[in-house]
Amino acid sequence: MYFFSLLVVALGVSHVEALLRFSCSGLVTERLDPLVNPGVTGSPHLHQIIGGNGFQPFMNPDNDISSLATCTTCTFSEDFSNYWTAVLYFRARNGTFKRVPQIGNQLFEASSGRMTVYYSPYTAKGVKTTAFKKGFRMLVGDPTIRTAEPAQQYRQLTYTCLQTPGTRTGETKNMPTKPCPAGIMVNVRFPTCWDGVNLDSPDHKSHVAYPSSGTFETNGPCPSTHPVHIPQLFFEVVWDTRGFNDKGLWPTDGSQPFVWSYGDRTGYGNHGDYVFGWKGDSLQKAMDNNCNINCPALKTQTIAQGNKCTLKSVVGEEIDGWLNELPGGMPITT
Ligand SMILES: *[C@@H]1O[C@H](CO)[C@@H](O)[C@H](O)[C@H]1NC(C)=O
Repeated sequence: MYFFSLLVVALGVSHVEALLRFSCSGLVTERLDPLVNPGVTGSPHLHQIIGGNGFQPFMNPDNDISSLATCTTCTFSEDFSNYWTAVLYFRARNGTFKRVPQIGNQLFEASSGRMTVYYSPYTAKGVKTTAFKKGFRMLVGDPTIRTAEPAQQYRQLTYTCLQTPGTRTGETKNMPTKPCPAGIMVNVRFPTCWDGVNLDSPDHKSHVAYPSSGTFETNGPCPSTHPVHIPQLFFEVVWDTRGFNDKGLWPTDGSQPFVWSYGDRTGYGNHGDYVFGWKGDSLQKAMDNNCNINCPALKTQTIAQGNKCTLKSVVGEEIDGWLNELPGGMPITT
């Protein structure tokens, strides 16, 4: 019964009857960013990365990463894409930092999954959802934002203060300001309209757009500049803040103690990155087949098998323990 009601709650986050939803374990946590800092070993801030083991400091868009990769951390085993976000740290009163652990979605067989990934097709009659193509990549959000107003342009980057693991209401654009009994869930939803031409763009954003009116959830139309309907890519990342909920550990001024690896205490700089890497036309098949969570058209593996796929950090620095500064010496900025 508990499981069933969670399922209903989880489905309630989206209007669609058809969606792919799956778990991916951690691949590596390190300072790499092949989109924003291609080829740089030691990008400015730390990321946690999931997906195929073709992830590298430089990812040539001409390469088919689904054939370069030999394993993936995702339960749909034809998905060699990479997905990444920043990493959350707790800042103690004495100024040192501790990495916040992540927890997997309890709907899946084991809690070792690190992120929950969704791909939802449009459901309006007569609207075809076109899967991403080989070489496609994008990012959403902007790590330099620290205030509410500019954050509005990324309308669907939010936080859920989990009262229980199943809480799916009360999303905010800023970091929760009170202790969250079951952790903080970060929700990263990407734009759903594509210009149909460019697989990437200099800012990694302008080749995609939000619907011109309404939202993806209300089947809003795509603008004429970006007429192609792409799946809504959405990921949920749960940060296990439970070990840091004692107010006696929080700053004496009453503010919240969590800071992103890019030096953001406000939460408004939330962002996420995506490099497409599904094998062949498997994602298009899934979109065409109206898969609902499970997808017989796709090959799967267990979370335990996904857990075996990992990469060794090439930056190889200390990211755990009580750190005197954020990895890379990233300063906290307001
Ligand atoms: C700083 O604070 C944390 C959390 O209270 C503690 O575990 C750590 O040992 C402290 N470090 C120093 C150098 O006092």
